[in-house]
Amino acid sequence: MCGIVGFTGAKQAAPVLLKGLYTLEYRGYDSAGLSLQTAGGIRTIKTKGRVEELESKVNAAGEIESCCGIGHTRWATHGAPSDRNSHPHNSMDGTISLVHNGIIENYLELKTMLQAEGVVFKSDTDTEVVAHLFAKCYHGDGVAAMLDVAKQLRGSYALAVITADHKNEMICTRRDNPLIVGVGEGENMIASDIPAIMAITKRFIVVGDGEVVRVRPEAIEVYDKHGARIEKEIQTVNWDIQGAMKGGYDHFMIKEIMEQPKAVRDSIASRITADDLPDLMSEGVGAELFRDIRNIHIVACGSAYYAGLAGKVAFERLAKIPVMANVASEFRYSDPIIDKHDVCVVISQSGETADTVAALREAKARGATTVAIVNVLASTAAREADHVIYTWAGPEIAVATTKAYSAQLSVLYLLALTAAGARGTLTPDEIRYYCRQLKRLPDEIEQTLLCGDRMKELAQLYYSSDDAYFIGRGIDYMTVQEGSLKLKEIAYVHSEAYAGGELKHGPISLIEDGTPVIALACDPELYEKQISNIKTVKARGGRVILITNGDYAIDPDLCDHLIKLPACPWFMTASLSVIPLQFLAYYVGVLRGCDIDKPRNLAKSVTVE
Ligand code: F6R
Repeated sequence: MCGIVGFTGAKQAAPVLLKGLYTLEYRGYDSAGLSLQTAGGIRTIKTKGRVEELESKVNAAGEIESCCGIGHTRWATHGAPSDRNSHPHNSMDGTISLVHNGIIENYLELKTMLQAEGVVFKSDTDTEVVAHLFAKCYHGDGVAAMLDVAKQLRGSYALAVITADHKNEMICTRRDNPLIVGVGEGENMIASDIPAIMAITKRFIVVGDGEVVRVRPEAIEVYDKHGARIEKEIQTVNWDIQGAMKGGYDHFMIKEIMEQPKAVRDSIASRITADDLPDLMSEGVGAELFRDIRNIHIVACGSAYYAGLAGKVAFERLAKIPVMANVASEFRYSDPIIDKHDVCVVISQSGETADTVAALREAKARGATTVAIVNVLASTAAREADHVIYTWAGPEIAVATTKAYSAQLSVLYLLALTAAGARGTLTPDEIRYYCRQLKRLPDEIEQTLLCGDRMKELAQLYYSSDDAYFIGRGIDYMTVQEGSLKLKEIAYVHSEAYAGGELKHGPISLIEDGTPVIALACDPELYEKQISNIKTVKARGGRVILITNGDYAIDPDLCDHLIKLPACPWFMTASLSVIPLQFLAYYVGVLRGCDIDKPRNLAKSVTVE
């Protein structure tokens, strides 16, 4: 995820662009840059680091006379954060400059074609391909060139371009990435998100998928993907800038919960072949990795560990490989039995968690092949692992993880299916079936998000309770541990998660009249067993919120509240059943007046032991 901005008008462009970039920094902050149209051609200034560093560089460059330019703040995907990989990227002759948010899936194909035509690349990015492609397609009309470029791109993108020969003009388009045009008086902007335009206007147009827009100070022309002029409705923002940063949501956590379909879609999109098979070969992870191994060790902390537990169930049941799952702080001091016959999978949103990084080093030192599932590009775990598989969840701002957790799950499913193929425990057709289901998962997550209002109502009923219990079996047991952690960290409610069958061995004594018990029953293998466990809770006065899927006939006396989820293959239910639990923690936290995005005593990246 990156942020793009552009300005054209009568005032100096650089300060407006910098102001816009500051508001977009939440979308990425490993590098930043801008390009300005000047009398002497296009002037590009860019740097690794934050917008603050870009601002110093721009100030150091002295007065630059320019009323039109584009800017970018980067969350690296292709190519590590560096000055040369920062955007904008320019054509070889420097007359075209471009910024991009998204991922170009066929960039290698295009790069090879352009190189054969003599184009010399200066960066490792997918974006630079688009700058050169635009230059090839440009014959004096930016809209025509952009339409031509869009036809040749696969992937997701929002693009903005300036050319040296069309003063005060910007051309932009998008597919599956946000883009708006800010409508001012004699000045207009383009941006990834509303806060960036609020320096000049509160009025904006939402660019539709495939549409191309020509933006000048006095006119905004929108074209459909066939090049026909269309009219667009102008909308008006009624939030303040703080609200706008969160896209109209009250907190980053809820915004990120709602972003989960995209996080999962982006994490799997380029990793399933046209023939519906998992493909992690660009990360160097293929059948060879799993064919002859003895064990898989999954190591992580907190929510990432719970994602790992769900991964363990998938690996064991699908690929029949024994999996040891460990919290990293224990693993590193446990004198672990791990060597060159094993694979160690570490999972981390930040890639900087001290215990996880130490565990990775320990596993590597003992000869295991290491695979890191990481969200932050070029982070320590990503750099040090033998193989890194990025989750494309984009920057996660709220301290409590939601969308990165979901992206981790989806990558673990792909890994488990790869392992099952390598070991022959599933047939290619069975794997294809699961991959097709996995491609539908983002839509099912979307559907599941509709339970938010219902969970808000339930939060209102139970938010004052001092304790809550979560129960589940099989894959559901892994998810309830994550749900319980969320309630503790966000709402400061004492909660515990148990395997349903364990209740009778002690914890059932804590259930009394009115105790809230959140019960998952989504694992078909264990559905009936879990229903019996729920009955024992109900018989002791527990107030049961039952979350289930499938077409089970539910006895009305079994629970007090029923949440039905869409049906999907058993191991993928973890991606759906966690959503009502995230909502519950969020709304209980709101009702208890907690600091949702920055819970007390917690930090986003735990770089100490
Ligand atoms: C909980 C949460 C933490 C992290 C844990 C690991 O919502 O966010 O439990 O999951 O601190 O962090 P990473 O994934 O950065 O290694």
